[in-house]
Amino acid sequence: MDFKIALLPGDGIGPEIVAEAVKVLDAVAAKYGHGFSYEKALVGASAIDATGDPYPQETHRVCLESDAVLFGAIGDPKYDNDPSAKVRPEQGLLRMRKSLGLYANLRPLAVFDSLAHRSPLKTEIVKGADFLCVRELTGGMYFGRPQGRSEDGNTAYDTCVYTREEVERILHLAFRHARARRKKLTVVDKANVIATSRLWRQIAKEMEGQYADVELEFMFVDNAAMQIIQRPTHFDVIVTENLFGDILTDEASVISGSLGMLPSASIGEQAALFEPIHGSYPQAAGKNIANPMATILSAAMMLEHLGRTEEAADVRRAVNTAIEKGVVTEDLTSRGEKACGTSETGDFIAANI
Ligand code: IPM
Ligand code: MN
Repeated sequence: MDFKIALLPGDGIGPEIVAEAVKVLDAVAAKYGHGFSYEKALVGASAIDATGDPYPQETHRVCLESDAVLFGAIGDPKYDNDPSAKVRPEQGLLRMRKSLGLYANLRPLAVFDSLAHRSPLKTEIVKGADFLCVRELTGGMYFGRPQGRSEDGNTAYDTCVYTREEVERILHLAFRHARARRKKLTVVDKANVIATSRLWRQIAKEMEGQYADVELEFMFVDNAAMQIIQRPTHFDVIVTENLFGDILTDEASVISGSLGMLPSASIGEQAALFEPIHGSYPQAAGKNIANPMATILSAAMMLEHLGRTEEAADVRRAVNTAIEKGVVTEDLTSRGEKACGTSETGDFIAANI
């Protein structure tokens, strides 16, 4: 089959890791007889440098015309340390999510047995952990208005807003994922304090009957932050609002042993986008040391989304082989072990498809 893939490499290590995922996709295309055509577009700091806009209209067009978007990373230190910057790479990301309607961010967390010892948590705690975080991505405090400052500049405000429609849409998706997995859904909220959380809880209870085969539980976000670290094997599917999901998924990422391994999917109305969870890691840019596996595993999620389940499994298996054979970048080696470069790691995985 033919697929149109938009490539948004972005900043920092983005271009290097996306290039490795493309190698792997090309190997998949050759083996299974698919045709992938790629169109590159600018996003983030590199888009600001070239056009003044972190999410140019042209990039939006390329995304809309694609079957799927493969995204690298955005961010540049020159903006991080300048709170007065009017245009920021992150604005591009948020605008992209909103305008493509990418309302669900799926972040699967699983422990590779051969990497469990790298987690800062005890191996016996993380072993067997395997859950999916479903983060709402286009609502809540990130987008709620009003947002801003009082005239004298001494008071600031954000607004957290959720509509029934937004909550139902993400909960349906989370219930369906739970149904396809181990049939347990944890709704994470702060219903003891905030109104939007109470709406989430009410709607989840109303929907429960439609998914009678799924066990539903509620957990306050502060408790969830603790349980994720103390009992990660407790969870199957977690669903939560935008800001809680942002925080909890960074926390959960330590379970796997390396941030460099974690893929994600953002799916929605107008497009589907796949990206590694890690950032642009500017210190490593151009050095051929960044781990391409999270991006390659994001490409596997993309293949799954395109209905190519067997191909996705093949990519995951090839990544596992690389880990087992020690063909890994420096973030995954122990002292004294030889590290491979970004491109050697990608070559090995592509050759194993
Ligand atoms: C993420 C990131 C973004 C977010 C930033 C870069 C705006 O942290 O994708 O999790 O907060 O959503
Ligand atoms: Mn984040």
